[in-house]
Amino acid sequence: MRAYLVPLLATAALSRASALPNEAKQEKRAVSDWATAYTKANSALSRLSLNDKISIVTGTGWQAGNCVGNTKAVGSIGYPSLCLQDGPLGVRYVLGATAFAAGVHAASTWDRDLIRERGNFLGAEAKQLGIHVQLGPVAGPLGKIPTGGRNWEGFSPDPYLTGIAIADTIEGMQEAGVQACAKHYIGNEQERGREQMGSNIPDRVMHELYLWPFMDAVHANAASFMCSYNKINGSYACENGGILNRLLKEELNFQGYVLSDWNAQHTTVGSANGGLDMTMPGSDFEKRNILWGPALQSAVQGGQVQQSRVDDMVRRILAAWYLVGQDQGYPTATFNSWRIGQRDVGGNHRTNVRAMARDGIVLLKNTDNALPLSKPKSIAVIGSDAIVAPRGANACADRGCNDGTLAMGWGSGTAEFPYLVAPLDAIRTQAQKDGTTITTSTNDNAQQGANAARNADYAIVCINSDSGEGYIIVEGNAGDRINLDPWHNGNALVQAVAAVNKKTIVVIHSVGPLILEPYIDNPNVVAVVWAGLPGQESGNGLVDILYGAASPSGKLPYTIAKRANDYGTNIVSGDDSQWDLFIDYRRFDQQNITPRFEFGFGLSYTNFTYSDLTIEGKPTSGPATGAKISGGVKVLWDDVVTVTAKITNSGGVAGAEVPQLYIGLPSSAPQAPPKQLRGFNKIKLEAGASGTATFKLRRRDLSYWDSGRQAWVVPTGDFTVSVGASSRDIRLTGKITV
Ligand SMILES: *[C@@H]1O[C@H](CO)[C@@H](O)[C@H](O)[C@H]1NC(C)=O
Ligand SMILES: *[C@@H]1O[C@H](CO)[C@@H](O)[C@H](O)[C@H]1NC(C)=O
Repeated sequence: MRAYLVPLLATAALSRASALPNEAKQEKRAVSDWATAYTKANSALSRLSLNDKISIVTGTGWQAGNCVGNTKAVGSIGYPSLCLQDGPLGVRYVLGATAFAAGVHAASTWDRDLIRERGNFLGAEAKQLGIHVQLGPVAGPLGKIPTGGRNWEGFSPDPYLTGIAIADTIEGMQEAGVQACAKHYIGNEQERGREQMGSNIPDRVMHELYLWPFMDAVHANAASFMCSYNKINGSYACENGGILNRLLKEELNFQGYVLSDWNAQHTTVGSANGGLDMTMPGSDFEKRNILWGPALQSAVQGGQVQQSRVDDMVRRILAAWYLVGQDQGYPTATFNSWRIGQRDVGGNHRTNVRAMARDGIVLLKNTDNALPLSKPKSIAVIGSDAIVAPRGANACADRGCNDGTLAMGWGSGTAEFPYLVAPLDAIRTQAQKDGTTITTSTNDNAQQGANAARNADYAIVCINSDSGEGYIIVEGNAGDRINLDPWHNGNALVQAVAAVNKKTIVVIHSVGPLILEPYIDNPNVVAVVWAGLPGQESGNGLVDILYGAASPSGKLPYTIAKRANDYGTNIVSGDDSQWDLFIDYRRFDQQNITPRFEFGFGLSYTNFTYSDLTIEGKPTSGPATGAKISGGVKVLWDDVVTVTAKITNSGGVAGAEVPQLYIGLPSSAPQAPPKQLRGFNKIKLEAGASGTATFKLRRRDLSYWDSGRQAWVVPTGDFTVSVGASSRDIRLTGKITV
């Protein structure tokens, strides 16, 4: 666990300010264009028999192959047995692959360079292992329901932030040579009943929230999409012509292929005609029912599915394969999912995990500069979340238990930890240098925690909240969280410690928001460190922040409410018909609800001032029309307004700020949210230094979806431009008049 060199990142971190050294380290590979890929695909297609074609679109069956999904090779065109493998934060079922920060933690860095590098490293590891299609990144769930079990696999309930993050991740992955798979498309916002329930999402809500980031995925040339388990308006996602043919392939002009979530296909003919292009894993989990294969062949021969539809499936699949260059010397899968083995493919990728573990931390409270710590005489470290689970970080399959420090959720979107640095491991290393005495209570017993804390200068209490995929139930949580309280009576543990120690620091690892009210105003709780889901470098990133090697620079990618009810969304039984434009901060703003910590919030060890707002350019009003590119109507992607602001580090230490731009649409856009994120920067500044935040607004950023006209429309009137340090800490305002 500890037998590796701790990378000396702490000080190098802030010098990333000007240069972008990580660009150079990334695997660069030209991703060709779709037109070239289609030319090659057409030529290969002409040499295939119907039987070949069926084998390209049909998985070999559950657990029939090394990867979680496999198709048959077609030797005549040099096409391999395609290997599809989870998942969004690392390669599943391989020991020695990197356990990266989870998607939600990547989002909380708001650092596009790190997000892109993470994608590139994910792809590089997948390629080394011979994986053709890596099953991620995730934009569904978006995170409508804060207790939704798989929210942490994706990025943020804000579609703009998720859209930027998913596009950067896809580009990084595909440059490394692997095919990305944007998932789960669409409307799968909870685990309960996901395989039967319907998500009846109104057209405008679909476009402005749930489809928005998938539009970015198409624009980033995602090779593939995965359709989800749920129904939309009564028809399963994997046979829903409305979402697959109409929205994805026609409106967004998606050139890649759609594969089913595992066993999410329900019909032979309906799915083929509804827009599905590949069935995974090719059978049900009992290995009995096969909906394509020979059944699809008969449907073609019987005329229920046109030959041209099968050709279209194959053309899309082959084009995606050519697009990322997998026809040229791509490795063969050298691992076996069903017998986890060691493959050291992590290289130096831990540098990205450490940087994210550190820069995704959000400092929520810091009374009288309690942090950073400076050589304290004694510290008590408390809570089961402070240590690696006694049975080991990988003791439970697919991380389906919560016995130690939490660094990822559970389910198919997990990886094996190659090692896991827990908070206590890293704090001990630092304490040795500082001559600090450490006392511990590494369970969640409140009395024992208080005893350990009583005589220490500082008490660091680590608590957590876990969630995951519904096929595993952990401590009564069937995927979705039961509530927004910490697990293992974490509130009582914090309160007991704070009752005896006047310098209590709370560290929280969580899949999503928690209610902090029981202790947030307690004067003895001098700091609250929101440490997210940081991956294998958890403790090292935490120590970088606790001791000030870096100033905290993460910002919340969601709202932390005072009461769970304030979110207005819940896990439902049966169909979900509650969909509107007002989720997360859009709701809090519209309903005038004061959150505990608003979307975009995060403290630092320095201060930033904002000045000199400039706004240049304006869009023409009306609907976007004309030629299409990947991602929809071309002009939607044009930069139409440039906003700049001067950001100055007016405090005493180097740090990084995330200036955010929010747009308020004019009243001629009906019922629009008061403000919506439409730009952000991450600016690293030495003490006293200034920099410029630049926000390029695309036409789509200033549009709303007009269902009547079936178009993105730029309304007329005054647009409010708000630039600030969070969604509620607006420092500069201006307007654009259209
Ligand atoms: C589902 O139904 C709603 C309400 O009629 C409609 O607005 C929406 O466009 C439908 N979705 C699809 C994908 O057809
Ligand atoms: C930031 O500014 C506040 C208020 O002006 C001040 O109290 C605080 O000490 C400053 N912090 C730093 C690190 O400079």
